[in-house]
Amino acid sequence: MESIRITGGIPLAGTIPISGAKNAALPLMTCGLLTDDRLVLSNVASLADLATMAQLLAQHGIAVEPSGRTLSLGGRITNATAPYDIVSKMRASILVLGPLLARVHEARVSLPGGCNIGTRPVDLHLKGLEAMGATIKLEAGYIDATAPTGLHGANIVFPFVSVGATENLLMAASLADGLTTLKNAAREPEITDLATCLIAMGANIQGLGSDTLTIQGVKTLHGATHAILPDRIETGTYACAAAITGGKILLQNARAADLGAVLSSLREAGVIITDSPDGLWVERANGLHGVDIVTEPFPGFPTDMQAQFMALMAVAEGASMVTETIFENRFMHVPELNRMGARINAHGASAIIRGVKSLSGAQVMATDLRASFSLVLAALAASGESVISRVYHLDRGYEAVEAKLRGCGAHIERIAAL
Ligand code: EPZ
Repeated sequence: MESIRITGGIPLAGTIPISGAKNAALPLMTCGLLTDDRLVLSNVASLADLATMAQLLAQHGIAVEPSGRTLSLGGRITNATAPYDIVSKMRASILVLGPLLARVHEARVSLPGGCNIGTRPVDLHLKGLEAMGATIKLEAGYIDATAPTGLHGANIVFPFVSVGATENLLMAASLADGLTTLKNAAREPEITDLATCLIAMGANIQGLGSDTLTIQGVKTLHGATHAILPDRIETGTYACAAAITGGKILLQNARAADLGAVLSSLREAGVIITDSPDGLWVERANGLHGVDIVTEPFPGFPTDMQAQFMALMAVAEGASMVTETIFENRFMHVPELNRMGARINAHGASAIIRGVKSLSGAQVMATDLRASFSLVLAALAASGESVISRVYHLDRGYEAVEAKLRGCGAHIERIAAL
């Protein structure tokens, strides 16, 4: 296992290219199951999670050929089982369920267990597919789903917003017989990106960007070429890097419109963000102020930015409160940040952060993808040296972290685990 060593205290200055979004690429890759034609995805980041998805699709019969930043997907479904060893590595594997059922009328997908940010059930995915005519049994740790005569349209009202369930049902409904309405659907930019690709493949979807999606099923989908949108979470993360180090960075290709409440919360904290034709300029001229945030579905403040924003608030003037409403166990970074001198008290779903003047380098441990980056941010701002272990979490969703940060002057290197 590798670690990352950072010597902090350097204001970052330079340009960071923002990669294609991981959480858009994952469902988009599963669209390869929806057609026998070739699907070409461009602006694809090189990430461990996308390699895992390619492995899953390959064992279903869909070859995923990389060429630079493009993936070309093609082939026929030869196997409808998503096995435990891949699903247990990556929960987004559940996204093959809807496409497999729609295409070959059966799917056997290992039940994803809980993970270190929460229990993360998949009941909304299953209820939605049942409403569309699937029969689902849970047996020996697997979801056994069949729809011998195919899926049909349904009127589905989600009791709460789920990104994954919206994506699974959107893909399934595209090939179902008749009209499907998804109400209280997720509105994340990644959903709109998925719908845009499905439309390019011949799907009939209305309501993009709203909480009601209407899908008139079609008999077949065809091949298409689609460019993946820039990663809004990577954008927000590096914006925090500029802010926490008192630097100035151009986030190349970043799109302000996709940031939702992250933009207003950063501005409220004193971060200057300017839109330009090349992307977003982010700088901190003066001090940071404490700002309260509550995580919510888009356009609210994303749970995937909570840990990074908390690191920023750790060195802001005054107190701030962070409330996590999406996942029940997403404060594992708190004790690690406190080891670096932060003053954070977490209780239940909320954490109070009392800003400190400075953090100090320490040996800390990454616990999940976004928590890992909160430690990187704290280390970039801290005095002295930090070593962050278990950085494989980081590699799941951030491309070329060391190169991007080093390009802005950071002292960062990957080392063998201590
Ligand atoms: C997506 O996960 C993202 N993953 C997550 O990204 C992100 O944190 C999350 O959405 C919320 O924005 C991908 O896009 C691949 P949900 P997903 O279904 O789809 C509960 C990252 O760091 N729920 O919107 O799994 C669930 O437990 C990550 O990149 C049910 O109860 O999230 C959670 O509390 C990790 N039943 C809430 O809903 C269900 O059937 C929202 O989850 C489905 C979800």
